[in-house]
Amino acid sequence: MKKYLVVANFKMKLASKNEIETWLKNFSKASKAFFSEKVETVLCTPYPFLEKFSEITKKDEFLLGAQNCFWEDEGAYTGEVSAKMLKSMGVDFVILGHSERRKYFDEQNLEIARKVEKAFKNRIIPIICVGENREEKENDLTMKVVLKQLQDILEKVGRGNIEKTILCYEPIWAISDNGPNRMSTSNEIMEARLLIKKFLVDKYGQLTAERVKIIYGGSVDNFNVEETCIKTGMEGALVGSVSTKPYEFIKIIEKFNEK
Ligand code: PGA
Repeated sequence: MKKYLVVANFKMKLASKNEIETWLKNFSKASKAFFSEKVETVLCTPYPFLEKFSEITKKDEFLLGAQNCFWEDEGAYTGEVSAKMLKSMGVDFVILGHSERRKYFDEQNLEIARKVEKAFKNRIIPIICVGENREEKENDLTMKVVLKQLQDILEKVGRGNIEKTILCYEPIWAISDNGPNRMSTSNEIMEARLLIKKFLVDKYGQLTAERVKIIYGGSVDNFNVEETCIKTGMEGALVGSVSTKPYEFIKIIEKFNEK
């Protein structure tokens, strides 16, 4: 049975050692005696806190993730962090192509594709974000934008790795920090899921397409997770703001676990 995947994206919201320690303490309490055969939880922390987090991801069933990586393994690239380094720190997942990386660092599909390649080379599973912005949504360009992102980013990924890939549909306008006017509706999310599935079936065949996990991100909390992620057939969630609140975050995991 395929497991649900719940991914915490702390972004830069827990911004000091103290805040991280408080989060870890509360998460340990909140997740006490928590065990799930149905859900895998990935904690994507900023680089400086990977070691701290690896303490809980080593002993519990929580997995360690990062929020980005560089597209070379090593060399003269001041300030960058490679997938090879991340692997050596025990990282198993990495978020790539997040809209905030595209927006603030001008990351383009081809660069993201190189990062995906390096992640796989280092046995790290990429969680690839795709989604349209508000303007594209208003101009009915969702399909076009998402398909282009998928095509460009997955271009060089071999069939063997495609099935390990996690795809996250995250409409940029629905991210909590972008002050969404409204949440995505179940129908919109379902439509996007079908579009992505169809792309995968057409390109890689039914069997491979079935194995790729598609998750949803954008203002997910424990009150809307049923509507946004479960009813829509999504296989998990990428959680930003709410992941910084351990007690609420664990409730999202529990919602998947009850299914
Ligand atoms: P949000 O963030 O849950 O706060 O909307 C999600 C994300 O940006 O990954």
